[in-house]
Amino acid sequence: MTAKRRVGVLTSGGDAPGLNAVIRGVYKSAAQLGYDCVGFLRGYEGLVDPVSYVPLTQQSTNGILNQGGTILGSTNRGRFTIVRGTDGEPMLDPELIDGARLTVEQLGLTGLICIGGDGSLAIAQEFHEAGIPVVGVPKTIDNDLSATVFTFGFDSAVACATDALDRLHTTAASHERIMVLEVMGRNSGWIALYAGIAGGGDVILIPEIPWTFEHVCEKILDRETHGKRFTLVVVAEGAKLPSGEIVTCAPAEGGRHARLGGIGQFVSDEIGKRLKRETRCVVLGHLQRGGPPTTFDRVLATQFGAHAMRLVHHERFGEMVCYHPPEIDSVPITEAVRQISTVSPHCSAVHAARALGVSFGDRAPTESPFQRASAPSE
Ligand code: F6P
Repeated sequence: MTAKRRVGVLTSGGDAPGLNAVIRGVYKSAAQLGYDCVGFLRGYEGLVDPVSYVPLTQQSTNGILNQGGTILGSTNRGRFTIVRGTDGEPMLDPELIDGARLTVEQLGLTGLICIGGDGSLAIAQEFHEAGIPVVGVPKTIDNDLSATVFTFGFDSAVACATDALDRLHTTAASHERIMVLEVMGRNSGWIALYAGIAGGGDVILIPEIPWTFEHVCEKILDRETHGKRFTLVVVAEGAKLPSGEIVTCAPAEGGRHARLGGIGQFVSDEIGKRLKRETRCVVLGHLQRGGPPTTFDRVLATQFGAHAMRLVHHERFGEMVCYHPPEIDSVPITEAVRQISTVSPHCSAVHAARALGVSFGDRAPTESPFQRASAPSE
């Protein structure tokens, strides 16, 4: 009798709503295809000394579809950190790669499904190059991975920030205040842009569009002349100050980037000083990462899990599942990592927001998207 095939799965990096839905999607479709499933604990750490994993079963995956976090645990501070080698090329400690390969072999895994963001998928790519059979699943609330239109977790983070804006709206209006909401997103403005549109933000400040305090204040005063004595400002944590600086709250260490945070308070204080108005700042922080995934994220994460398992079954290693609406597809992991996806200042979402009078803190372009679109063929 031949041994049952087996697949491994791990969740790495910062958590995002929908991780458990992917795990469940992998487990259930693996079972249909006749595979056993194991889940490594604490991300890549569970692959090496001490190797730690749990069997995924009907019982352990029961009721997790709508649960936030990850039943497998995760870490973004472990030993699996990509550093620069002597030649300047990014590399992972070869001993860790050997350890991971040994675990995969000893457990007789057909494939290893790695669910993670940019950094975690770069590790998966190193594994692939070292001959370990991996498949990637793109996860991040930031939506900053290339080669997929959406990552799971993003919609849930946007829903959280939108809810915050709805709540800030009523209190801002009641007290005639300027409310500044700082949202996550690292160096991309996706969360700020989408939540800003969905929550009726008046000013949206994102890393991709240079802005000035003069333009922000101009917008607030313009609203006042139209009888709106309150303003909602949404600022992405990675938005650069007009001086070009990024505001951080903890320095870079151990191969990790500096922790972003603090720009909201800075913007709030400066507006207060310049306009002599009452301002308040709210930093949404990790609320955006916790809690149950939205319907959209449950559907996306479930499809990602099932498709990742299909890739393992067909030995399509070194690939990452991706979403190209309306279909789920796959691309080489290399297409997704080390080139973050940012908001194009000319995208339709920015144009729509501008058309509604939203300020991005800059001098709004006068040119319409139709003029631009038709220009090359004229
Ligand atoms: O990448 C997801 C994210 O939540 C970013 O938006 C944020 O800058 C960062 O992680 C926070 O990381 P940590 O949880 O380590 O503070």
